[in-house]
Amino acid sequence: MRIGVMGATGPAGSGLAARLASVGHDVLFGSRSEEKAVAAVAALREQWGDRVDGLTPIDNAGACDAPVVIAAVNADAAIPTVQQHQHLLVGKVVVSMANHLTKKGREFNAILPPHGSIAAEMQALLWESKVGTAFHLVPAAEFAALDQDMESDVVVLADDDEARQTLMEVVRSIPGLRALDGGSLLNAIGMETFAAVLLTINLRHKGRASLRLIGIES
Ligand SMILES: NC(=O)c1ccc[n+]([C@@H]2O[C@H](COP(=O)([O-])OP(=O)(O)OC[C@H]3O[C@@H](n4cnc5c(N)ncnc54)[C@H](OP(=O)(O)O)[C@@H]3O)[C@@H](O)[C@H]2O)c1
Repeated sequence: MRIGVMGATGPAGSGLAARLASVGHDVLFGSRSEEKAVAAVAALREQWGDRVDGLTPIDNAGACDAPVVIAAVNADAAIPTVQQHQHLLVGKVVVSMANHLTKKGREFNAILPPHGSIAAEMQALLWESKVGTAFHLVPAAEFAALDQDMESDVVVLADDDEARQTLMEVVRSIPGLRALDGGSLLNAIGMETFAAVLLTINLRHKGRASLRLIGIES
């Protein structure tokens, strides 16, 4: 599949883009600066060789030229960035993975916008796109370590059933990730808030926990 990633130069976007390319997707590796994207892709090619042949460096507008576009920009910038490219995202599946968190001492907390979650706010603003969420609880380093298998459950949410199925296919294309259908964007508040809980647990237990649910066969 052709997949766009906006803000692909950060740890989460870069790791996810490289992982998606490594399993055969054509990935538009976006940045506010095409030069920055070119440098980041060159570094990934040096590290991983032809495993990341599917990466194309481009600016964020160029990264919107795909049926599925992942907003992997800094959480503060998620809403402004998709709004800026709103006209290019009409009819597309737009993926929010943003966790807007603040850290107070040894605890993370989520900062939630008026619509309850960044994802719900994004859908309200991008009413001609199909917003979905995934990857909230997958640490960037897990994506980036292409020499290691991944192991995580990924809850996928979207109001549009077809968009949710498409996004679940993208998740399933990465070996070791299990896609779980978590329903509509009303539940995104749970994922964005649980990210704060998970990071707090990892901080306090000095761990690298991600999500794995028991009791589900598929
Ligand atoms: N890090 C993780 O482990 C992790 C895990 C799950 C979910 N997430 C979520 O994934 C997203 C990316 O995480 P990250 O840690 O990679 O974030 P990040 O390093 O803070 O930012 C990612 C990219 O966003 C772009 N950016 C920064 N400020 C911007 C602005 N004002 N306007 C537009 N673009 C801007 C930059 O790309 P350019 O300069 O190239 O444009 C930057 O490389 C966040 O929403 C985060 O909550 C992260």
